[in-house]
Amino acid sequence: MREAARRCREAPDTLALVQQYLAEPLALVEERMHQAVLEGEEPTRQLLAGSLRQGGKRIRPILALLAAEALGGSPAPAVDAAAAAELIHTASLLHDDVVDHAATRRGKPTLHSLWGNKLAVLGGDFILAQALRLLLGTGDLRLMESMATTVAAMGEGEILQIFHLFDTDTTEEDYLARIRRKTAVLMACACEMGARLAGASPSAVEALKAYGMAVGLAFQVVDDLLDYVGDQTTVGKPVGSDLLEGNLTLPVIHALRKPGGGVIRDWLERRALTPKRVQHVADLVRRYGSLDYAYGVAEGFVKEAQAALAGLPDTPARAWLDALAVYLLCRES
Ligand code: IPE
Ligand code: IPE
Ligand code: MG
Ligand code: MG
Repeated sequence: MREAARRCREAPDTLALVQQYLAEPLALVEERMHQAVLEGEEPTRQLLAGSLRQGGKRIRPILALLAAEALGGSPAPAVDAAAAAELIHTASLLHDDVVDHAATRRGKPTLHSLWGNKLAVLGGDFILAQALRLLLGTGDLRLMESMATTVAAMGEGEILQIFHLFDTDTTEEDYLARIRRKTAVLMACACEMGARLAGASPSAVEALKAYGMAVGLAFQVVDDLLDYVGDQTTVGKPVGSDLLEGNLTLPVIHALRKPGGGVIRDWLERRALTPKRVQHVADLVRRYGSLDYAYGVAEGFVKEAQAALAGLPDTPARAWLDALAVYLLCRES
């Protein structure tokens, strides 16, 4: 992990720098997202306007914009699709926070904690539909097809996760299959849409899609690590909650197979986890090298992502995509 730590110290500002590089198209993305919500009537607008204003890293639009620029020279054709990807992400978070009983997101109270589960679920549905409308506006049915497949997979990923809560037989393959669906497919779709809107060749579209998928897998593995090692204030959402909710992520799947992992298995099987025990598990996953192991898996996906970019023309956008993959490994929020 030492080499990784060094690299991370050298690239702490990548996200801010890429946001700056894309400032103009990202401002348009924000505008489109707000328009999509403002098309609603009151009180829907009132309910949802705040969810968009709360920020977030905007990684999915960044991916779509950079993909378009890398393959067509300009991010402009991807603005609507980028906004649609972020709206889908927003809707999935509104639903996810209900499912996960999460009180905070991006450092603020979640919509369901303010307005109740019913309005959070219905608000998410509204945003999802508005995202599809934006995509329809591009006139490119291949984007609709890709997004429909993506949203279906995201739903299935979450369903799979719920069916396997507290399941101590969960394997690393099961875990990867689940995070591919719940997280990676949307990043792959964002990249694919950007590439298609740039008029890229089929092989370039596939390369960008593979990049997005690998980046998405690395991203979720790191997200799951942050649940064990992150600082709640920096992360902006509850930490230590995955295990408490019975969600087995890579560090704990690894630790369960260690000779001393029996105690974790026992607590999971008896549904006997408490915040104090979760803290004990966090110590164990560190001691067993499970955090390093998961970090290594994430690094492998980052390398895969970088390799997928190899055949693309050497442009600043390609360099940003490369840097973004490395940043995702280093992020603390
Ligand atoms: C959070 O995604 C949900 C996951 C897929 C882990 P982000 O970390 O991209 O969330 P924001 O948009 O920056 O808040
Ligand atoms: C985020 O998943 C939601 C989706 C990927 C659809 P998680 O529940 O793992 O992520 P956080 O920690 O709440 O952001
Ligand atoms: Mg969740
Ligand atoms: Mg969650």
